[in-house]
Amino acid sequence: MLLHLISSLLTSSLVVLARPDDFQSRCESFASKIDLPDVRVNLVDYVTSGTNLSLPNYDPSCGAPSQSVSADMCRVAMAVSTSDNSEITLEAWFPRDYTGRFLSTGNGGLGGCIQYYDLAYTTGMGFASVGANNGHNGTSGKPFYKHPDAVEDYAYRSIHTGVVVGKQLTKLFYDQGFDKSYYMGCSTGGRQGFKSVQKFPNDFDGVVAGAPAFGLLGLLSWSASFYSITGPPDSETYLTPAQWKLAHDEILRQCDDLDGAKDGIIEDPDLCHPTMEAIICDPDSSSSSSCLTGPQAKTVRDILSPLHGVNGTLIYPRMQPGSETRASTIMYTGEPFIYSREWWQYVVYSDPSWDATQWSVQDAAAALRQNPFDVHTWHTDLSDFRDAGGRLLTYHGLQDQLISSEISKLYYARVAETMALPPAKLDDFYRLFPISGMAHCGDGDGAFGIGVGAGTHAGNDPDDNALMAVVRWVEEGVAPETVRGARFEDGVGSRVEYTRRHCRYPRRNVYKGPGHFTDEDAWECV
Ligand SMILES: *[C@@H]1O[C@H](CO)[C@@H](O)[C@H](O)[C@H]1NC(C)=O
Ligand SMILES: *[C@@H]1O[C@H](CO)[C@@H](O)[C@H](O)[C@H]1NC(C)=O
Ligand SMILES: *[C@@H]1O[C@H](CO)[C@@H](O)[C@H](O)[C@H]1NC(C)=O
Repeated sequence: MLLHLISSLLTSSLVVLARPDDFQSRCESFASKIDLPDVRVNLVDYVTSGTNLSLPNYDPSCGAPSQSVSADMCRVAMAVSTSDNSEITLEAWFPRDYTGRFLSTGNGGLGGCIQYYDLAYTTGMGFASVGANNGHNGTSGKPFYKHPDAVEDYAYRSIHTGVVVGKQLTKLFYDQGFDKSYYMGCSTGGRQGFKSVQKFPNDFDGVVAGAPAFGLLGLLSWSASFYSITGPPDSETYLTPAQWKLAHDEILRQCDDLDGAKDGIIEDPDLCHPTMEAIICDPDSSSSSSCLTGPQAKTVRDILSPLHGVNGTLIYPRMQPGSETRASTIMYTGEPFIYSREWWQYVVYSDPSWDATQWSVQDAAAALRQNPFDVHTWHTDLSDFRDAGGRLLTYHGLQDQLISSEISKLYYARVAETMALPPAKLDDFYRLFPISGMAHCGDGDGAFGIGVGAGTHAGNDPDDNALMAVVRWVEEGVAPETVRGARFEDGVGSRVEYTRRHCRYPRRNVYKGPGHFTDEDAWECV
């Protein structure tokens, strides 16, 4: 039916050529139909597939001010007030080839940036999609300074407001309205997905939440703690990126084949507890380029250990081994991590001159006590979401250099304990897929192409695409047993070198042969 419709549309467009068709006319007259409280429409534009959209108002810190579009669609850009002195910038993209599915995208870091690439990706797959700016513009947390409404937008209100307005607009735009509602986001977007599951259990039927920044105040403390471990670049505890590469190679040497295959990928970091003293320099040897000093070995060991707070409680689990190379240039730079610094300067202490090099676990406790608008996002009773029929697929790269994948395993345990449910029952509505060889939300050394955005796309089949896997789970009741990832030969879009099926937690991937490790059937979830 749909194919027939598409092919007849294609045929008729040959005849009508430049004459506006129904879809285009509907789009061009849509502005006059929008009359919603708190919504101010900035523009409504008909955009054709292949357009390189220019985004002149995009904050320069957010990235390139252009986005190429892969579907004919109606673009609606608006401002929506969230209080007397705050607003979100919201975009709703309505594709011509519409599948009856609504979707919200998320954000990243402390931003501030509409993720146009996710709007393009999902509208290209037939979703009516919305994306908001999280209540402020740009990647910095400075707009939080003495502006609690901006923090509230960031904590939960931007996404929820975008969903409420976006659903109303979708019903207004398409006669058929929408059948199902979805969410896709990673990092802060992953936290936003969990925030919806925890606080607005009816917002979505299906949620894909990656590398979640939940337990946010613990995460920001953990990222702040790295500076107190490494010190500045001139201290004896500091490692250069080249020395981190040494540590990484040694960690791989000790842990790579624990899963049965020496392929440069650690399938289960839980099994990996490296002894870094193994590469402390021998004082009798003249070469020091392939070894670490004692203080440096301690730095690696401390970073691969959990962070505990003032009274001994766990603040955040350890960094998972395997992420050293990428983490070294962003987390272990010998400077306080920027998002942590900004959080204490602009939110916790409202003091832009606060010195982040002095951060201690006392500051962690202050941040946790403050927890504005429950931004921490750590409720572990998901009964309401389950009872509403929701389905949650979460994934976390096992080479994540920004948010340790161990936090996703810890949250899984907390939900199981709180709800008193074993994995077989959690599987009904909540499945966690650790993704070996995936860095933060994408990229990495292994099979990270799981279809959660343009940067991980390797096909639209639900077996190759985690977003479509959730759609199938919601609409057909077929739950994903595994998530297949593609390893690309030379970056996304290039030839797929091999694929691997990633297991759902708490199973782990074990190489059993007889094929080569690039053969996905040579692996087994145990
Ligand atoms: C879109 O336009 C911008 C600005 O002109 C340009 O830099 C960018 O490469 C273009 N993107 C594509 C995919 O053509
Ligand atoms: C964000 O940028 C848009 C576009 O320039 C602007 O209309 C809006 O007012 C800005 N939002 C905030 C909160 O500054
Ligand atoms: C320990 O510290 C955490 C966070 O700072 C706090 O939530 C908790 O109540 C404290 N526990 C005790 C026993 O003081």
